[in-house]
Amino acid sequence: MLLEVEPKMDKIIVLDFGSQYSHLICRRIREANVFCEIYPYNLTSEQITKLSPSGIVFSGGPASVYTENSPKPDKKIFELGIPILGICYGHQIIVDNFKGKIKRSNTREYGKAILTIDDKSDLFKNFDGSINCWMSHGDTAESIPTGFKVLAHTESSSSAAIGNQEKKFYGIQFHPEVIHTERGFEILKNFSINISKAKPEWNIMNFIESTIENIKKQVGNDKILCAVSGGIDSTTVAVLLNRAIHDNLQCIFVNHGLLRYGEESLVMNLLTKIGLNVLYIDASERFLTKLKGVTDPEEKRKIVGREFINVFQEEVKNEKDQFQWLAQGTLYPDVIESGVSVGPASIIKTHHNVGGLPTMLNLKVLEPLRYLYKDEVKKVAKILNVPDELLNRHPFPGPGLAVRIIGEITPEKIRISKRASKIVEDELVNANLYDSVWQAYAAVGDDKAVGVIGDGRLYGNIVIIRVVNSIDAMTADWTKLPYHVMERMSNRITNEVDGVSWVTYAISSKPPSTIEPQ
Ligand code: XMP
Repeated sequence: MLLEVEPKMDKIIVLDFGSQYSHLICRRIREANVFCEIYPYNLTSEQITKLSPSGIVFSGGPASVYTENSPKPDKKIFELGIPILGICYGHQIIVDNFKGKIKRSNTREYGKAILTIDDKSDLFKNFDGSINCWMSHGDTAESIPTGFKVLAHTESSSSAAIGNQEKKFYGIQFHPEVIHTERGFEILKNFSINISKAKPEWNIMNFIESTIENIKKQVGNDKILCAVSGGIDSTTVAVLLNRAIHDNLQCIFVNHGLLRYGEESLVMNLLTKIGLNVLYIDASERFLTKLKGVTDPEEKRKIVGREFINVFQEEVKNEKDQFQWLAQGTLYPDVIESGVSVGPASIIKTHHNVGGLPTMLNLKVLEPLRYLYKDEVKKVAKILNVPDELLNRHPFPGPGLAVRIIGEITPEKIRISKRASKIVEDELVNANLYDSVWQAYAAVGDDKAVGVIGDGRLYGNIVIIRVVNSIDAMTADWTKLPYHVMERMSNRITNEVDGVSWVTYAISSKPPSTIEPQ
């Protein structure tokens, strides 16, 4: 059972045809303060009627409308009287549905193009002349359907934006959601507010107030368990719950022995300071025992996930009957990825989370953040006075150092990775760079190299510094740190961390690499 906090307000829905940008479209529309959700492309017109959206966006997608079994929406969707905006593949669906012609192409138009605006009455309201837009498509519209007119064009596409302004159906070949399209946000805003007439009612303050009210109503006098890590999501959940039900909330912080340097005391102090009732469990020994001798990355991840559930279950065993709810920091992208996206993404890494807990504990689940994106959670956290020390810390993976230590996890490698990572973080802070990078740490494996420490020969460990820039961890670039900062990190690590003879810097981006080595 999930906490029913779905905001009751005007909304736009995005039908996902398999685009990598569906979440971006959704976020941009929310930035215009209009509530927006993503659904699978094959939602029936009856389901859509029930949702009662003010407008519908068809996302892009990798398919071609003429390919057999290419994803198509329910045909009756065009009879609901709801405005529709098709983007890229979504645009081609509209053209195809109304008997325009799509030209099949073997080459993709990819990159920036100049879009000349021909009609400024609705979708391009307040626009003038031309803008840069971002194209990424193969097929294009060769002839536009009857009832539609050209609203904008580019040199290579005479119908880059079309509209049937009476029926309020629009199609655009370019991507308004990416930042490379100038004023793309305004196009989505014009569609959502001016054309679809959705009221801009989505804002974080309302979300907080209504969520707290909903929790109070739904939970009543029941008791809630909440696993916390000091990360932004679990902290924000705990603070929201604390506001709603205070005395009936029990937070649990499990130390698996693979945390960052000094993390357990920092997190416990900060969480206690903001008034949370947190039970601290030091389970490091049992985690490290279970991980002894294990070298396979996926196996390590699974062991950490399983052991977390075991610890949690044992700890709450005696008091379990007191609790009726388990709270989790699930976010909107997790909900969508795990349920309704078009194609299953292949699993690169099994992420450790507390997903298995609810069934094992037989508790009802509360997910107060399940409608929010990460940047929205940050806004909630800020308003709820979550301390900056927690808010601004780099994200840390659930399995912790288990995924930053290559090969078997040993006390020696934990010590090296913790100390060396602390130096990397401190030097970034000193250089005023900590806040501008996404993650930064020092990994360690089994490779060794010869060094000279003092007058002696040291056959010591090689440490790998990894610092990356990223927006959402889906892609990442290695950070081009100034040489003097790298040099200080290296000098300090070889001087201050016993057993390290060499320091290297990871210069591969994601893809093809990932952010964590395991
Ligand atoms: P990768 O290594 O896949 O990581 O490029 C992408 C982002 O996810 C974080 N990460 C995790 N976070 N549980 C988490 O909560 C995990 O099991 C996990 N594995 C990776 C990683 O730190 C990066 O930010």
